[in-house]
Amino acid sequence: MVNKITVVGAGNVGATAAQRIAEKELARTVVMVDVAEGIPQGKGLDQWQSAPIEGFDSRVIGTNGYDETVDSDIVVITAGIARKPGMSRDDLLNTNAGIVKSVGEAIKKTSPNAIVIVVSNPLDVMCWVAKEATGFPKERVIGMAGVLDTARYRAFLATAMDVSVRDIQAMVLGGHGDTMVPLISYTTVSGIPITQLMDKATLDAIVDRTRNGGAEIVKHLKTGSAYYAPSSGAVQMVEAIVNDQKRILPCSAWLEGEYGEKGIFLGVPVKLGRKGIEKIIDVSLTADEKAALAKSAQAVREPMSVVKL
Ligand code: LAC
Repeated sequence: MVNKITVVGAGNVGATAAQRIAEKELARTVVMVDVAEGIPQGKGLDQWQSAPIEGFDSRVIGTNGYDETVDSDIVVITAGIARKPGMSRDDLLNTNAGIVKSVGEAIKKTSPNAIVIVVSNPLDVMCWVAKEATGFPKERVIGMAGVLDTARYRAFLATAMDVSVRDIQAMVLGGHGDTMVPLISYTTVSGIPITQLMDKATLDAIVDRTRNGGAEIVKHLKTGSAYYAPSSGAVQMVEAIVNDQKRILPCSAWLEGEYGEKGIFLGVPVKLGRKGIEKIIDVSLTADEKAALAKSAQAVREPMSVVKL
């Protein structure tokens, strides 16, 4: 475990992430920060009161400021408004850019050595806002999206084939939006290429459903967006860092030429360990996948040009 992990935003994603971090005892202290008075305090106290029953010793606290967050090892940023039905992730752009910028500036002052995991949407653009606001090196600002999108893809495949989710290996790259790129050529079931087990029409439908996985949940919930799977995704990354697991996970990373892209955050396979991103893994892609990734990069670049930092 590390000494301190801060989760900024005590909404559904943030509070569920804090709970999962505490239950896994990934930090001695878990701090939830939110501008809403009373919410982080109440949720933090409630979670801490579950500790004797669940049997964890991570102390959860909630606060409205950054004093308690000083010298956090990891900061997970979930702050921002969530999507309403019919709203695209890019609609959130300017409101959330302002929020993530002020959070980034606060983290820079209070936890200058932290590793930052960004969950706020539009994800890849918010990673860039956080990198600019903190001034942290690229290995310490990482976006959570690929783990979530890949989990959705794996869940849908497991349902369609009636097999264990554990046996499905897959990778969804690109931006966290409708242009994301599920890599069919790297999708296997215990090593067996998915194309040997599933017809193209079924697979195409699953890829499509994955791309719209977030919107499908928003449509059901009506007043909010997904949080169980998004918080799981963020906490899997936290765990890889805390325990120096060297896991290979699809994360949004700052690219400097990898995959032919430069100066943007985009979902790519990375090695995650105690230092954050220890390596970006450049895998070969089919011509279709390359074209789809380039299109996805463009879909990240456009909103970036609209944000005023
Ligand atoms: C989703 C939102 C959180 O994909 O982006 O559910």
